[in-house]
Formats: sequence, structure tokens, C-alpha cells
Amino acid sequence: MQRRPRRNRKSESVRSLVEETSLSVKDLIFPLFLIDGSKKKAEVSSMPGIFRFSQDRMLKEIEECMKLGISAFDVFPAYPESLKDSRATESHNPETFYLRTLREIKKQFPEICLMSDVAMDPYSSDGHDGLVKNGKILNDETLEILGRMSLAQADAGVDILGPSDMMDGRVGFIRNVLDENGFHETSIMSYTAKYASVFYGPFRDALDSAPKFGDKKTYQMNPANSKEALIEADLDMEEGADFLMVKPALSYLDIIKLLSDNYPVPVAAYNVSGEYSMVKAAAAQGWLDSERAMLEILLSIKRSGAKIILTYFAKEFARLK
Ligand code: PBG
Repeated sequence: MQRRPRRNRKSESVRSLVEETSLSVKDLIFPLFLIDGSKKKAEVSSMPGIFRFSQDRMLKEIEECMKLGISAFDVFPAYPESLKDSRATESHNPETFYLRTLREIKKQFPEICLMSDVAMDPYSSDGHDGLVKNGKILNDETLEILGRMSLAQADAGVDILGPSDMMDGRVGFIRNVLDENGFHETSIMSYTAKYASVFYGPFRDALDSAPKFGDKKTYQMNPANSKEALIEADLDMEEGADFLMVKPALSYLDIIKLLSDNYPVPVAAYNVSGEYSMVKAAAAQGWLDSERAMLEILLSIKRSGAKIILTYFAKEFARLK
């Protein structure tokens, strides 16, 4: 045998020399769940180790995470039914608790990268990402609402908007609205290839945002398809997206690779709630080691081509360093 691949695996020092992929806390964005009120910190029952925080507790959490080296956060609000309506009006009320908290976070921690989600679902009485009429999603009417929501979030100091709604034309529409209002510096990380996935289940528990009827298959992508991801990515590039995102991550590593091989902007992957909870559930049974599973998962997402990973494991990963 002339070629023995095991020679490059013979010791830790040789293995580390030939290691191709490395993980850094700087690659990670930590998603956080916000609730109204004060002095509240409650664990999400389907996501062990992940909490819903009121503003005061969230500020403390961010400070703690920053000490561990995390510098990017994505904040998602959980709204009570009483504040939801069919047009997601609360999403662009400048005094709503979500926007007040974003403003306060940026005031206290101007150096962090603050990200937010642009979609109607947390504020919609229908629980859908777009405007519903007679059981149908109205794409172009939704854009107007997303535009208002985006402006309100940019005005609150968000650094990167994350349109997660999958309406056609939304990246360009939002880019125009931002530019017309002087928010040239607000970035857009498009949820380019967002699949209609079962793995969002625990997130919808965390936000009480499950759709009230039907599913999201007329706007989120079919898990059977990859070519559509190229159409979505072409459009996002034309429309001015600064980052492309693939979501979920683990069942879509081929899509992450496809986009990172073909587009020059950074590709992000969302390691979603169900992917987190599966690991935690198995670990709770003693069936696998949560820490090693986390490291292997994050590494595989990075290896497939993601520069950035949104993950509920961010704090746990940061603690290891
Ligand atoms: C809402 C949104 C969802 C997630 C991020 N933004 C859920 C959905 O589309 O139903 C899922 C994130 C996760 O599961 O961790 N537009």
C-alpha cells in the first residue's frame, strides 16, 4: 500500500494540522425569545435550556452572552392573542414592546449585531406569514405590510432584517422602502430557501404562532426540490440581499452547498428549533452526548458552506471555549 490515509489521522497534533473546518463563536447568531412585562424568564417546554425573556431579563442575558464572545443576536417576539389581528398592525406600532426592546438593546449594546424577523406570523390572528383573505395568501398586499414592519424595525436600530415570509418580491420591495427612507445601512439577510418543514414545531410553541388553518406550503418550499432554491437565490441577489439563508440546516446541507458554491455573498444556515430539541430529547434519555452532537452538527453545517449559523446552541458552544 503506497497510500495509507490513516497516516494523517495518527495523532491529535497531526489531525489538527489537517483539519479543514473550524468553528468560532463569531460565526454564530443566537436567537432569543421576547415576551412583554418584567422579571420574566420561563423555559420553553419543548426547548430545554431556551427561555422566553422579558426585556429586563433579556438585557442581562445579552450581557452574559457578550462576555462569552457572542456578538450577534436575533430577537423574536411572542405576542398575546389579544394584540394580534389579520393585518399584523402591532408589528409597526412604534410603541409596541418588541420595538421598544430592540431600541433599548441597541442603546445599551451599540456594538452588537442585532437581527430581527420580517414576517406577519407573530402578529397575525391567522398565524400566517402573509395576509390572508378567503383562505388565500395575498402576496402583493403583504409586501406593503412587510415594508412598514421593516421600516419600524430599521428605525428601532436593527442591523440586519431577516425577511422569513417567502413572499415573492419582498427583498426588492423592502430594499426600496429602506433606501427611500434613508436606511441605506440596514442589511437584509433573506430567508432565501426556507422549506415547509416539520422542524419549526418547537419555535411555534415558543411564540404561540402556529397557523390557525392549513399549512405554509403555498409559500415555503417543497422539501423535495433544490432547483427552486437557485431561482430564489437569483432573485434575492438581483433584489439586493446582503446574505442568503437556508433553513432548516440539517436536512438541507446540499442546498447550503449549492448556494455557497454559486453565489458570492455569505450564506447563512438556520439550525432550527426542532433540530435543537431532537438533540436535547435524545440526550435527556441518555441516548447521545449533547455536547458532542452539538459540535458535530455545527461543524457539518459549516463544512457544507455556511459562513454563519443561527443556532440555539450558541451559548452552550460559547461556554465551551
Ligand atoms: C416565522 C419564522 C419561523 C422560524 C423563524 N421565523 C417559523 C415558521 O416559519 O413557521 C422558525 C425558526 C425555528 O424553528 O427555530 N416566519
